[in-house]
Amino acid sequence: MTAVRLHPAPAPVVVDLSAAALRVRLHDALAVYVAAMDYPRGTEHHRAPMWAEHISRPGWQAVAAVIPDDNGRFDLRSAPIVGIGYGYHGAPHQWWHQQVHSGMRRSGWAEYSAREVLSDYFELTELHVHPGAQGQGLGETLLVRLLQHRPERATLLSTPEVSYEDNRAWRLYRRQGFTDVVRNFVFSGDTRNFAVLGRRLPLSLPGSAAALPTPPQAPRT
Ligand SMILES: CC(C)(COP(=O)(O)OP(=O)(O)OC[C@H]1O[C@@H](n2cnc3c(N)ncnc32)[C@H](O)[C@@H]1OP(=O)(O)O)[C@@H](O)C(=O)NCCC(=O)NCCS
Repeated sequence: MTAVRLHPAPAPVVVDLSAAALRVRLHDALAVYVAAMDYPRGTEHHRAPMWAEHISRPGWQAVAAVIPDDNGRFDLRSAPIVGIGYGYHGAPHQWWHQQVHSGMRRSGWAEYSAREVLSDYFELTELHVHPGAQGQGLGETLLVRLLQHRPERATLLSTPEVSYEDNRAWRLYRRQGFTDVVRNFVFSGDTRNFAVLGRRLPLSLPGSAAALPTPPQAPRT
């Protein structure tokens, strides 16, 4: 039997999320993250303190995709969340910064080049769209909204390595001009391979000007 939908579902709306709003909706935002990453249920409980701590970091900024009601209105305290993205200003005392710095050095980056890239960047920490809302360009809208007015000279992120870069995250980041910083990197305490990708800001820079320095080729074994 074919289901007939009398009213098309309202299109998600992408909005800025204040620190107070994310604190109130932390559980719902984490549910999007767990569904998007296909992590086991319960992962959100481990991640909640970390996301809450990130909110207080300098330069923190967040965006969300929410479903409005049939009249196009929404209340950020209760509207269903289908997408979430946030990041903050990277700094040398942060764990992620130190990991990336050591990954860059181990993969052959000269110290001055690594320092230059890491001297002023926005860490795009999380970007997730619920599987039921993917494939509509929402991830791209969230990413652009998050990055378009950032004052930093660059943005960096890490994403799991996948064969042939064949998933929506990789396609999105490549489309948006992100280039390789470190490939096949294993963060301490993890077992999976990640890529660290980055690009110069502002987003309006054309492809060649947006590219970060090319990392050295991996040594042949
Ligand atoms: C990565 C992720 C955030 C991207 O969000 P998304 O909304 O699925 O993807 P995009 O915004 O790039 O949308 C692109 C898709 O929408 C389609 N699309 C439809 N209308 C569009 C529009 N107006 N503009 C752009 N794309 C549009 C494109 O054809 C494309 O489909 P395809 O990938 O099948 O070719 C999301 O897929 C996700 O959460 N993935 C799992 C978690 C993850 O990997 N997060 C990143 C970890 S670092």
